[in-house]
Formats: sequence, C-alpha cells, structure tokens
Amino acid sequence: MKMESIEEKFIRTHGCGTLRLANVNEKVSILGWVSKKRNLGSLLFLDIRDRTGYVQVCAKTDEIEIPELRNEYVVEISGTVVKKDVPNKNLATGEIEIVADKIKVINTANQPPISTQEVTDANEDIRLKYRYLDLRRNVMQNRFFIRSNIVKATHEFLDNNGFVEIETPYLAPSTPEGARDYLVPSRVHPGQFYALPQSPQLFKQMLMVAGFERYYQVARCFRDEDLRADRQPDFTQIDVETSFLNQDEILTLGEGLIANIFKRVLNYDVKLPLRRMDYSEAVNNYGSDKPDTRYDLKLVDCKGVFSKSTFETYANNKYVKAIKVENFAHELSRKKQDQINLIAPKFNMKQFGYFKFENDALTGSLVKFLDESVIAEIVKLFELKNDDVLIVATSNILRDVNFGLGAVRTTLAKELGLVKPGTFDLLWVVHFPLFEKSEETGEITPCHHPFTRPCDEDLDKLETEPYNVYSYAYDIVINGYEAGGGSLRIYNQEVQERIFNVLGFTKEDIDRKFGFFVEALKYGTPPHGGFALGLDRLTMILSGTDNIRDVIAFPKNLSAVCPCTSAPTEVDEDQLKELHIKVIGD
Ligand code: AMO
Repeated sequence: MKMESIEEKFIRTHGCGTLRLANVNEKVSILGWVSKKRNLGSLLFLDIRDRTGYVQVCAKTDEIEIPELRNEYVVEISGTVVKKDVPNKNLATGEIEIVADKIKVINTANQPPISTQEVTDANEDIRLKYRYLDLRRNVMQNRFFIRSNIVKATHEFLDNNGFVEIETPYLAPSTPEGARDYLVPSRVHPGQFYALPQSPQLFKQMLMVAGFERYYQVARCFRDEDLRADRQPDFTQIDVETSFLNQDEILTLGEGLIANIFKRVLNYDVKLPLRRMDYSEAVNNYGSDKPDTRYDLKLVDCKGVFSKSTFETYANNKYVKAIKVENFAHELSRKKQDQINLIAPKFNMKQFGYFKFENDALTGSLVKFLDESVIAEIVKLFELKNDDVLIVATSNILRDVNFGLGAVRTTLAKELGLVKPGTFDLLWVVHFPLFEKSEETGEITPCHHPFTRPCDEDLDKLETEPYNVYSYAYDIVINGYEAGGGSLRIYNQEVQERIFNVLGFTKEDIDRKFGFFVEALKYGTPPHGGFALGLDRLTMILSGTDNIRDVIAFPKNLSAVCPCTSAPTEVDEDQLKELHIKVIGD
C-alpha cells in the first residue's frame, strides 16, 4: 500500500506587527514566538512576536483549548481582530488585539538563558553567546533589514551606472593595507601561506588593467588589528574601482551612491554635492581627519596671546590651541577636569589648562600668570561670555595639540548632548598627506597604501620633503565616522618606483610582496581610482547605534573571539600535521 505523506502546512495571513484598526473583524492567522504571557483566569493574554513586530492575543480559557505555553514556544494562532478598549501606546499594533479561536504549538523551547525582551541589560558576551536569541529581538533584526537594504540600494545604483560585479579571491597573497594579515597555511605547499585579503585593492586595480572600467563588489575583508567599537577583524566593504575618471568625478559617483542609499533606506534626502574639506582644515579646526561638523567647538590657535603669559610652558612651547565650551563653567568641577585630563597622556601631554569666565572675570589656577592686558586679549579673541570655559592644549608637536583637543571635542560633544539624534553630517575630507610617520616604528609609511597617487604639483618634493607631499586620496566622513575612503592610483611606473624607493622597499621586497602587481602595471594601465565604503559602519550610522557588533550577525568580541561558536579554537593534532604546523606556544 502506498503511504501518503502529508506535508505540514503553516498558515500565516499577516505578519504580527502589521495588523491595524483597518483589519478589525478580519479572520487572521499568525505564526511566531510567545514573547509574554499573562494569565488572568478566564482570560489569557499573549504577546506574539515575529520579524514584523508584536501583537497581543486574547484567549478565553473556557471557550477554546489552551495548550501548555511558555516563552519562546513557536505557535500558530488563528482568530479575529478586534479593537481594544484601551490602546497600548507602546505597540504599533496597540489599537487592536486578536481574539483567538485556535492556538497550536508548533515547537516548544527551553527556558531562554538570556532575556529576549526588546530592552535588555544582559552582558554583551552572554548576548553574543546566545546570539540567535539576542537576534530574535525586533530592535536587533531591524538593523539587519537596514543592512540588507543598503546592499540592495548599492546594487541598484551601481547596476544603473554600468558597473560589473566581480568576485576576487579570499585565499590571496598578503596586501599592503597596513594591518596584520590573517594567514591560512597551505597543505599542499609546506611552509607557504595564503593571506586573507585586507581588501581587494590589488585585484581591483588589476581588473582595471584588464579593461573592465567599472568594477564593484560587496567584499569581506580581514584585518588583524586592535579592535574598537567601530572595528571588526572580518568586516565588509562596498568596493568600487573605475577607469578614466578624475577625483572630482569619482567623488560625485561616490556621493551619488551614498545619497541613493540614504534615500532608499531612510527616505532621507542628502543634499549634493557634499562639502569637500581639506585634510589640513579638518585637523587644524576640528582636531580630526573625520570631523563631526554638527557642532562647533572649533580649535582656535592662541599661541600669539598665550606666549605673553609668564607660565613657561605656554611661553616656550611652539603650539598653544584651545576650544571654547559655552555654558559649561558651572558644570566643570575638579573631578570633571581630572576626567578630561585622562585624554592628555594619549597625546603626550600631561594635562590641559582650564579657564572659566564667571562674573565677568577669567578664573582658573593659571590666571595668575596672565596680566590684565593679556586677559583682555583672550576674552576678546574668544568672545568669552559668562559660564564659558576655555580648554587649552600645548605642545611642541602640532599633531598632539590638534588630535588631543579633537578627542576632548568629541568627548564633550557626547557628554553635553550637542548632537541631535537622527541627524546626519556628511562630507568628504580630501587632500591627505601621502606619507606619515608610523606610530609603531617611527618609519615613513603610506597614509593609505603605496599605490596612492601623489598630487602632480608635489611630485618634485617626493624625495626631498616626503611629509609635505599630498595625495589624491579622500575619505567620506559621516557623523564623525570614517565611512569610506579611496584614492586615485599611480599608473605611471616611474612614479611608482620613486614611491617604493622613498618607502625603502628593496627590489626583493617588491618582487616578493607584490611583484605580480608591478608587472601587471607594465601592460597599458589606464588612469584609475576608486573607493571602499565600510558596510558595517554605514549600517551603524543608518541604524543609529555606535557599536559595530550590533550590525554583524555573529561578531567577534573585543578579544577577537566569537562567543557564539568559540572561534578561534584548538584543532586536532592530525590537522596540524597535515598542514606542517607545530604549535610551540609562547
Ligand atoms: P580603507 O582601509 O580606508 O581603504 O577601508 C575602507 C573602509 O572600510 C572600513 N573599515 C573597517 N570597518 C570595520 N572594521 C575594520 N577593521 C575596518 N577597516 C576599515 C572603513 C573604511 O573607511 N582598499 C582601500 C579602499 C580604496 O582605496 O579603494 C581600503 O581598504 O569604513
């Protein structure tokens, strides 16, 4: 006898969160998870959750059969939508509820080890361990809908602009993006390693040599670097490269893409063209190469007036700059000064100087070093009003003064609530220096990568004043985050060789590290350039979180561990043997 197999069928007429007054009197069926249960004897109230939101179900316990129900059980419920007498303002569906005529348990659930309620104070590592439960919350899922919509808007815009999507290898040679590589041992070639790409940089440039002209890829990148709230070891870039466009044309393209993303995802109109700010203006006025210009707190050079003080540090140091913070004097306690001072050592300064303007007079422990006329000059320069504060930084290194005050600026803006949530500030920072001094080794190193094209007018300074050479490099800055960056690339072999020389690369270094790439550039390389947007950072910004882990389904914690899977883990001795690897410990 032939056995009929009866396939299960689950009925859903509506998403839980989609029901409204307009659905009143409709017969509906929902599928979802039990989020809350309240038993009032003859009435049982359930909040049922699916990815569209929550809806309240009311079951009359003496009229229908009630199965055993606990939080996170998977259920199918049918019933009739009715208007609630007292709406629940906390729910989008709060004006209605479903009066159940059938409740079916599809699956049971163990008691969840973490709360699945929207607001949770659970420790992040535990949330990451039970990530699949943490991700059940709408607040988390909505960020992934935003992420997915950003990718869709990207495909839409780039497809409409003649771009071709091409994948490049993950098992690749090491690329010089500045971070440490994640290495993958080769089984068939003992002692040899692939590197997971820090970005598809060299591949996309070779695709330009190949003549594709417009390439893009939503690419995973891997960097072994110190983790922060906006950095992950594996992250995703929207990676773009073009041929025959100049810098301005590439910026126009990039901001068109960003504007399309904001429009499609948030229905927000970005005003184009975006402002272009020189790197030097950003650093000198905002103390950052990724300035948030939604608030003022600009850095003001005041060496001129402070050099007249009898306080030796101000008189002798080459640089003195300050920021004025309005309406802050009454809040600026000794303790708060100590807190702000914690920033100073990171920029090689002992502490900052604090001056308050109160009752029409300048006060502070350093005022005794300023005579009346100097005080008057300071008051005039900063247009001081009562309750204003001046925070002063001084050093012989301009970079320390700028970036130190920049860090104070962003910290205070956060603390004083100077940024309205839901507002966006987009700009390009352009004209970056080509080289910088490595903080680790003190050696000259590229600000971006060694294929970045120097500005034509600076070419004759390459060997003599390399730190005064600027480049066709740019970053897109949104709300104080570096959301993306790129550059024009060198397509002239002679310039490329000069850069390698300045960086001290030997011929052997070049051959070993990227000889294949230098070879490729010899066969008719078109002028080219591009950029990469950080998809994770864009998602953070568009979904209003400041934690990158909130927008990655299974992220690593700050120790680069995935608490959900426990990666990285030890592997079997046999696997290591096959890979010709012996672990020798520390
Ligand atoms: P860059 O190194 O500036 O440029 O990276 C581009 C963008 O990627 C994002 N990003 C990161 N996001 C999360 N975690 C990280 N560890 C991380 N590192 C970078 C940032 C950054 O702006 N190949 C070049 C691009 C080019 O020149 O075309 C590159 O990778 O948002």
